[in-house]
Amino acid sequence: MTAQIIDGTSIGAKVQEEVKQAVAQMKEEHGYVPGLATVLVGEDPASATYVGMKQRTCEKLGIRSIGHTLPADATQEEVEALVAKLNADPDVNGILVQLPLPKHLDEEAVLNTIDLEKDVDGFHPVNIGRLAMKGRNPLFVPCTPAGCMRLLKESGIDPNGKEAVIVGRSNIVGLPMAMLLQKANATVTICHSRTKDLAAHTRNADILVAAIGWAEMITGDMVKPGAAVIDVGINQKEDATKKRGYRLVGDVEYDSAKEVAGAITPVPGGVGPMTIALLMENTLRAAQIALSKK
Ligand code: GUN
Repeated sequence: MTAQIIDGTSIGAKVQEEVKQAVAQMKEEHGYVPGLATVLVGEDPASATYVGMKQRTCEKLGIRSIGHTLPADATQEEVEALVAKLNADPDVNGILVQLPLPKHLDEEAVLNTIDLEKDVDGFHPVNIGRLAMKGRNPLFVPCTPAGCMRLLKESGIDPNGKEAVIVGRSNIVGLPMAMLLQKANATVTICHSRTKDLAAHTRNADILVAAIGWAEMITGDMVKPGAAVIDVGINQKEDATKKRGYRLVGDVEYDSAKEVAGAITPVPGGVGPMTIALLMENTLRAAQIALSKK
């Protein structure tokens, strides 16, 4: 039996359409337009591409996009001063500092300076702390894990009482994903590079989230029959048949896993489109918070 394909492109488009309509309604009823400021430090091509995609999606949905680029040698003070300026700007509802920052910068200190109510990435330690705690709720949830949760929901997969295994413990995906699944009453295991017998864990997963950044590491024999497999990885794999010389693959070996899983996200077209869609939703909510305080 082949798995149900979880179509992130169409689910992401649906979320974007909902945001677009809410933005139009906000403009009509309150004369208020949400604004997202992006901060890109340096010239990392992948980061520049991601920021460009975020800006274009803003424009498509009627959200104002305010782009700031700082040179790769920008100082800690310069980056923090820019964030402080954006915190004070009433036209800016959300602030997105693209990660990773150049190595000489203190990422934690930068994220700490973002106004909690503008933290649309959900990376502020207070938002992450609330996500970790029972009975507390963050203002914003990090976009990629929130997107994974939406994919599960839209596919009719309820984590309640399920065994969830996350492979990868990054601050951006693995850790918040574990906390979200726990909040949704799953029994959660986090696996990582030091985990012994990874397959023994993954084979136990009703919900398996792969966020390791290692091309096709999770193979079909590591998947429990009927499991929901969420593949967060985006890796380049050499492919001479492609004009650019490579194709994109996930952290899961799709062809073997789809024969075993009950549901699976493809790469591309799975989690990727959800990250941007959820960022737009978070920006809309930041604008709603600002509007409610006017
Ligand atoms: N780098 C990789 N993913 C993300 C993300 O979701 N937000 C930001 N700000 N940087 C990233």
